[in-house]
Amino acid sequence: MDVERLVAGHYAQGGLEAAILAGLEAAGKDPARLGVDDLAAVDEFHIGVRRATEELTARLALAPGMKLLDIGSGLGGAARLLAARHGCDVTGIDLTAEYVAVANTLAARVGLAGRVRYVEGSAMALPFADASFDGATMLHVGMNIADKAALFRGVRRVLKPGAFFAIYDVMAGDGGPAEGGGDPAYPLPWATTAATSFVEPAASYRARLAGSGFVVTHERNRRDLAMESFARLRAAGGPPPLGLHLVMGEAARAKVANMIGNVERGLVAPVEIVARAD
Ligand SMILES: C[S@@+](CC[C@H](N)C(=O)[O-])C[C@H]1O[C@@H](n2cnc3c(N)ncnc32)[C@H](O)[C@@H]1O
Repeated sequence: MDVERLVAGHYAQGGLEAAILAGLEAAGKDPARLGVDDLAAVDEFHIGVRRATEELTARLALAPGMKLLDIGSGLGGAARLLAARHGCDVTGIDLTAEYVAVANTLAARVGLAGRVRYVEGSAMALPFADASFDGATMLHVGMNIADKAALFRGVRRVLKPGAFFAIYDVMAGDGGPAEGGGDPAYPLPWATTAATSFVEPAASYRARLAGSGFVVTHERNRRDLAMESFARLRAAGGPPPLGLHLVMGEAARAKVANMIGNVERGLVAPVEIVARAD
């Protein structure tokens, strides 16, 4: 089976929309009267959830009407945030059909269907015209993609010159195998086994971006944010009614425990990189 089918199979749960609606009700929200903030606990599938997105996007020169692309948009939280807060027109693309369907339903529920849309497809074959976007975001997706140079070349093609490309991925840390730190433990939130995990150091992202027509303008390791959010998770003692455990399915506990362990051991760390299309 090819990697993209394995990746989509890893993420698809079945019954996700019903689980989210039940979680919303259990959290005291009315599914018929939702705003983007009501979904924040479940629709941002990355370390630091909403706060991480806000702190990354605060670095971008966003303006109403900008056409943005969110690559590997998942359940669509980041795209909805960009549309609701900044008035941007956002297209998300994702491999996982169930995520795309739920993302579109949630956008309609919060009244954003006119400003965000999600399409099923691969980041490696973007079905968009050259120079059609003013910016792109990609949050916790690169770990599933082996050929980052080809990925970045494709992103560069659909961006206008001067457009931003904001990445927030889990990247290899200083304590990796080369330093005697051992291999990461699986399953992880983004991969069941090493067959679909392609974690690389920030230096390799920088080099591949530079070789694909981008100028890197910002980089920040978010290990601090990761450790804070892990401490909050531990303090909570168990999952809230509405949370990412609904998205991660039965192995959620093991996925989260392994991710925390891998970050604590320095094998991986979430890192922001922002680049400009040259
Ligand atoms: C960890 S989730 C992050 C989702 C979203 N960016 C977020 O932060 O909430 C990774 C997402 O990347 C998608 N993905 C992985 N490889 C992809 C590819 N080659 N093309 C498109 N989407 C991909 C998965 O389907 C999944 O929805």
